[in-house]
Amino acid sequence: MKAENHLKEFMASCQQRVESALDQRLPAANRLPSRLHQAMRYSVLNGGKRLRPILTYATGQALEVPLGQLDGPACAVEFIHVYSLIHDDLPAMDDDELRRGKPTCHVQFDEATAILAGDALQALAFQVLARDQSMDVCADARIAMVDTLATASGSTGMVGGQAIDLASVGLKLDLPALEMMHIHKTGALIRASVRLATLAKPGVAPEIAEGLDHYAKCIGLAFQIQDDILDEESDTATLGKTQGKDKAQNKPTYPGLLGLEGAKQKAREMHEAALAALEPLQEQADLLKALSLFIIQRRH
Ligand code: IPE
Ligand code: IPE
Ligand code: MG
Ligand code: MG
Ligand code: MG
Repeated sequence: MKAENHLKEFMASCQQRVESALDQRLPAANRLPSRLHQAMRYSVLNGGKRLRPILTYATGQALEVPLGQLDGPACAVEFIHVYSLIHDDLPAMDDDELRRGKPTCHVQFDEATAILAGDALQALAFQVLARDQSMDVCADARIAMVDTLATASGSTGMVGGQAIDLASVGLKLDLPALEMMHIHKTGALIRASVRLATLAKPGVAPEIAEGLDHYAKCIGLAFQIQDDILDEESDTATLGKTQGKDKAQNKPTYPGLLGLEGAKQKAREMHEAALAALEPLQEQADLLKALSLFIIQRRH
């Protein structure tokens, strides 16, 4: 089968799989406090690309981890991602009204509920890693997963990147500073998505684990470069979020610094570096390679 078709099929089956795994792990909408639980479900079950769970499953597939073992980690990383989106959209941050083609959480509900839904999703992510019965891993591996996701989420990971992003409004960052911001705000969680699957497999050879980690670092940066590119050259209907916000809010971006062509070139370089990092896995990594290409070619 052509790599592209294989990827499409794999992505569709992972999306289906994670949709039901997320649904099962979210509190029921009628459980008290029901407005909070409705807001959590509204923001999670609303048609995201599920790229981070797909990366967890694709890494598991490369390492021959049964996919059922990865539902917990895949949901945990998506819960953190959705919490980061809810908070990113708040008036105090990017002040966005559209997300995944629907009103943002604070518009649909209210600001306090959106803050709390984000908080609760963050806690739920760690609860899932700590206790999910579908994960047949030793206690040490569970702790390593909690550590990985906590480090990727906190002030030295995603939240730190968001702080740099907000502090950089109106500034002209140089390339290393911009890279630092992107690696933290977006790259850290993408890297964790891959690492969580590596941790589900006991005894992965160090050169394989390092190769996967470097791959994840490269695609994490490529992902945010493409997000910046799409903010500039796509449209609101395709994106499901308001196009042109970065420029309107004076955010430093790759196209802003390097121009659209320069940014696209940089994304391609990251893709090439990601492929090179997968060499030790040979054809076992075909899906991961195709996902890297998808990341720089995606239109939303
Ligand atoms: C958007 O992430 C926010 C960034 C980190 C750039 P995605 O593009 O993965 O958003 P969804 O999950 O598909 O909505
Ligand atoms: C968001 O970056 C990164 C996180 C949510 C951590 P952006 O602010 O560029 O994401 P979008 O464009 O709103 O999805
Ligand atoms: Mg932002
Ligand atoms: Mg934003
Ligand atoms: Mg963006």
